[in-house]
Amino acid sequence: MHIDASQIFNFLPVPTDIHFGCGVVRSLGDRIRSLGGTKAFLVTDPGVRAAGILEEITAALRAAAVDYTICERVKPDSGSALIDEATAELKQSGADAVVGIGGGSSLDTAKAVAALAANPGGALAYVGLHKIRNHPLPMIAIPTTAGTGSEVTLWAVFTDESKGLKVAIGSALIYPAVALCDPELTLSLPPHLTASTGMDAMAHAIECCTNNACQPISAALALRAIELIGRNLRSAVLNGRNRQARYAMMLAAAMAGIAMNPTRLGLAHALAMPLGSWDIRVPHGMALAITLPAVMEFNYLAEPARFVEVSRALGEPVDDLPPLEAARRAVHVVRSLARDIGIPKGLAEFGVREEHVEPIVAEAMKSGNVPVNPRRACAEDLGRILRQAL
Ligand SMILES: [Fe+2]
Repeated sequence: MHIDASQIFNFLPVPTDIHFGCGVVRSLGDRIRSLGGTKAFLVTDPGVRAAGILEEITAALRAAAVDYTICERVKPDSGSALIDEATAELKQSGADAVVGIGGGSSLDTAKAVAALAANPGGALAYVGLHKIRNHPLPMIAIPTTAGTGSEVTLWAVFTDESKGLKVAIGSALIYPAVALCDPELTLSLPPHLTASTGMDAMAHAIECCTNNACQPISAALALRAIELIGRNLRSAVLNGRNRQARYAMMLAAAMAGIAMNPTRLGLAHALAMPLGSWDIRVPHGMALAITLPAVMEFNYLAEPARFVEVSRALGEPVDDLPPLEAARRAVHVVRSLARDIGIPKGLAEFGVREEHVEPIVAEAMKSGNVPVNPRRACAEDLGRILRQAL
């Protein structure tokens, strides 16, 4: 690892109590009790019930004699209205702990609900960084995808329905109190969701360890996550019952999530927020999977040494190559990984057209992920990258 003796950096240890491994979800009742909870408010989406996961979780709660109420109306990139409604339901239910079960949308909705239960006003009042004042209700995150890392991050992303825009609450108070990372819950995740969420984790890891806020502790986690994803995402997509691949992917998603908390990300994530907004609504992981290679192609020239580390983590024999060529290998490997796991070639498949480029770029340029990008980027650059990904 490259050491820069002049670097001063900050690393935020994650306060989340992480329990990792096959079967850990069955300890949910004990975890709620150890947090002082007696009644749980479960936030999830209909797919989790359809996969049989909700039944397993409620059985664990009944076995531990923990009472619960279920809100299962979360949709992809759920909105502020649902968060506000669910918060009212939670208060009515008398629950004293929140459990998010699902992908990023369910976990983020649950994090926001737990925060709003202890803070006045609606979700939109807290968009931005560090606006939450009071400690949320204890929240337990149970991911059923391996990608967002929401189980260990300080972010909750949702849609501001008044503008149709994806927005985020970021606060050190909204880390889940507990994460139950049980790879068995991902065994039935369909290939296209495994692929897109896995590429989201890859984007977290690559953007955080190549950007200008990159620092050695985050980089160590991110590079190991890249290695795990490079070795296991194909198997997880092509043979979903492969427990080892599922375990590795869930581990990588959590490691990338921890890595990115102090660093922010880069242009791919700046673009993914508006790509998931308005009536465009490209799923987050797909937006990342498609734009990431184009963003890497733009970035590697600015910081080749960081991209050489990515190439190495991806298992490329780069030691005898000239630095730029060694750096560029990472772009090729990520592009072929996306192709192998069935990621569509371009955003046009999701209805993104030339007329969308300008509003997407205008919104992306407001992102806090642009200033940390390894190569300085203006609106024209983002427009070029986005057109390449159409
Ligand atoms: Fe992401």
